[in-house]
Amino acid sequence: MILSDLWKKGTDFLGVKYAIMGGAMSWVSENNLVSAISNAGGFGVIACGSMPPELLDIEIKKTKEKTSNPFGVNLITMHPQLDDLVKTCIANKVSHVVLAGGLPKAENIKTLKNAGIKVICFAPALVIAKRLIRNGADALIVEGMEAGGHIGPVATSVLAQEILPEISEVPVFIAGGIGRGEMMVEYLRMGAAGCQLGTKFVCAEESIAHANFKNLFIKSNARDAVLSVQIDPNFPVIPVRAIENKASKAFISYQHEVVKKYNAGDYTKEEAQLKIEHFWAGALRKAVIDGDVENGSVMAGQTVGLVKKIQPVQEIIAELIEQAEISLSNG
Ligand SMILES: Cc1cc2nc3c(=O)[nH]c(=O)nc-3n(C[C@H](O)[C@H](O)[C@H](O)COP(=O)(O)O)c2cc1C
Repeated sequence: MILSDLWKKGTDFLGVKYAIMGGAMSWVSENNLVSAISNAGGFGVIACGSMPPELLDIEIKKTKEKTSNPFGVNLITMHPQLDDLVKTCIANKVSHVVLAGGLPKAENIKTLKNAGIKVICFAPALVIAKRLIRNGADALIVEGMEAGGHIGPVATSVLAQEILPEISEVPVFIAGGIGRGEMMVEYLRMGAAGCQLGTKFVCAEESIAHANFKNLFIKSNARDAVLSVQIDPNFPVIPVRAIENKASKAFISYQHEVVKKYNAGDYTKEEAQLKIEHFWAGALRKAVIDGDVENGSVMAGQTVGLVKKIQPVQEIIAELIEQAEISLSNG
């Protein structure tokens, strides 16, 4: 079988040559990287993150100036202005929206679909995948814990086995821990429509990530991309995969301090939880944009160990395709 047949469901759905989604990464996936991925035949996705609607509007317009190929917008469902962000996507005739960060409401999916937008949702388990399809999701992303950023507890390989054989109604894209074409082929053979990669694109020439951020990626091994540590079962910590640094170590002692003050009666439970949550506020921007990779959050997936140099997006995608084709021709 040839690659174009193997992922036809994905390329048709996305309207691109290669069913490779450039996973939205807050601060990194802006117009330069997104348009470069789409221009190279992949599918770039703008990370809206915490942007207000006015900034998203500008970002979409800038991306459209740089590519005439399809691209998507990733919206975080907890964003306080979600409804306005949805309107911004509709007004700009965005073709695909990815709803991330918690289960999207059926009404959000419906509003987007009524405007002719294809809606892609994250499915962290089979039951949720089925529910999302019932609620109208046009495609799913299944992302395992090898990925960079906010993650769930289960490995990509396990989720793929749980979900791919059971879902045929909509295209399913696999994400987390994919760094080579051979791996993409394996998931496609299992029934995936395509793959989503984030970490592999951070060091693209077109990525605006600070040189310090890129250099730390190039130096790091898989084992350096670790999960955020929670020290007390009463105070949950959002699981995030990032490169271990001064901030991740300080986060552990900070939690100990906060819990000590809570036990002494200085903080209420809510106050203590909020303090812990706020520790990382603005930390990704600090690392990606300001280049403070010691005090910021250097979110990265385990494939960071496969990132060896700064390369144009075109070259990254060409390598993935070459590896996939060699793997397929070997039977
Ligand atoms: C620096 C960084 C920031 C990310 N930010 C987001 C985000 O804002 N929204 C989102 O849905 N996923 C985010 N992700 C996850 C990616 O979109 C993608 O799914 C993931 O990187 C795929 O796994 P990989 O890192 O193993 O390639 C982020 C990942 C990284 C590395």
